Amino acid sequence: MEYFKLNNGERMPAIGFGVYQIPKEAAVQAVLDALEIGYRKIDTAQSYRNEEEVGEALARSGLRRGEVYVTTKVWIEFYGYDSAKESVMRSLDRLRTDYADLVLLHQPFGDYYGAYRALIDLQREGLVRSVGVSNFYPDRLSDIAAFGGEVPQVNQIEINPFFTQKEAVDNMRREGVLAESWGPFREGKDGIFTDPTLTDIARRHGRSVAQVILRWLYQLGISSNCKSVRRERMKENFSVFDFALTEEDMARVAALDTGRSLFLDHRTPEAVALFKSFIESRRGKV
Ligand SMILES: NC(=O)c1ccc[n+]([C@@H]2O[C@H](COP(=O)([O-])OP(=O)(O)OC[C@H]3O[C@@H](n4cnc5c(N)ncnc54)[C@H](OP(=O)(O)O)[C@@H]3O)[C@@H](O)[C@H]2O)c1
Repeated sequence: MEYFKLNNGERMPAIGFGVYQIPKEAAVQAVLDALEIGYRKIDTAQSYRNEEEVGEALARSGLRRGEVYVTTKVWIEFYGYDSAKESVMRSLDRLRTDYADLVLLHQPFGDYYGAYRALIDLQREGLVRSVGVSNFYPDRLSDIAAFGGEVPQVNQIEINPFFTQKEAVDNMRREGVLAESWGPFREGKDGIFTDPTLTDIARRHGRSVAQVILRWLYQLGISSNCKSVRRERMKENFSVFDFALTEEDMARVAALDTGRSLFLDHRTPEAVALFKSFIESRRGKV
C-alpha cells in the first residue's frame, strides 16, 4: 500500500474502500472482503447508516486496530459544538473503536464552525487523529483554514475525470490540505467506463478503465475512495501500484473535464435547500 502524508505528520493510505450505498445486510461481508484483499482505509459516514457493520467487520477481520485507517463523517443534523462531539462519540461506539483516524464534516452548511471546534477538541483528547472537511469548495476551505483554529488535514470532494476540480485541488495544495476523491468512477454514470479516451489509455496499458482512473488520481497526489460490492472489482481497483501513466495519458484524462458535478453545485441556494430537506427526511434515521 502507498500512503500520503498529512499536514500533522499522520499518513493516509492512497486508496480506500468506500461504503456509501452499501446496504446494511451487505456491508459486513463487503468490508471483510476489502480488508482481506488488502484495503487499509475504510470510508464511512454517520449518514451512510452502516458504521455498526463497519465496526463488526473490523472486529471480525483479525487485524489490529492500528493496521486500518478508519474515516467517518459528521452529518449536518449534528453540527454545533456539543451535538457534534456527542455524535462522534456515538460513531466511535458503533465502530467499536477508541479513536477514529479521520473525522470529516460532511457538508459545508449550518454551524460547521461549532462542529469543527468539537473535532479539534476531540483531536486534542486523542479520540480523533486527524480532522477534515468534505465538499468544501475553495472559498469555504480557505475560510475554515484561515479562521477555524487549525488547517484541516483533508478535504474530501468529488473528483473524477469528468469533474477534475483542478482549481479546488490547487487551492488545497496551497493550503497544505490533502485532497481526497469521492466518486472516482462518477458512480458508474455518464458512460465513464466506456469513454473512448479512457478505454484507449486502458487498452494501451493492458488495464481497465477503473484502474486508469485510480492511477490518474494517485499520480496527481490525490487519495481516493472507491466502492464495489463485487470482490473481483475490489481486487481490480486495488491493483494500481504496478504501472504508470505517461504525461500524455495524464493530460488526456485531464482534458475530459466537463466542469460539472455528478450531483450538484454545493455553492448554490438550491444545494442549501436540498441539504436542509435531507436533515428533515433523515431525522431519527441517522
Ligand atoms: N463525502 C461525500 O459527500 C461523499 C459522497 C459520495 C461518496 N463518498 C465516498 O466515496 C466512495 C466512492 O464513491 P461512490 O460510492 O459514490 O462511487 P464510485 O466509487 O465512483 O462508483 C461506484 C460504482 O462503480 C461500480 N464499480 C466499482 N468498481 C468498478 C469496476 N472496476 N468496474 C466497473 N464498475 C465498477 C460500482 O458497482 P458495484 O458495487 O456493483 O461493483 C458502483 O456502481 C463512497 O463509497 C463514499 O465512501 C463520499
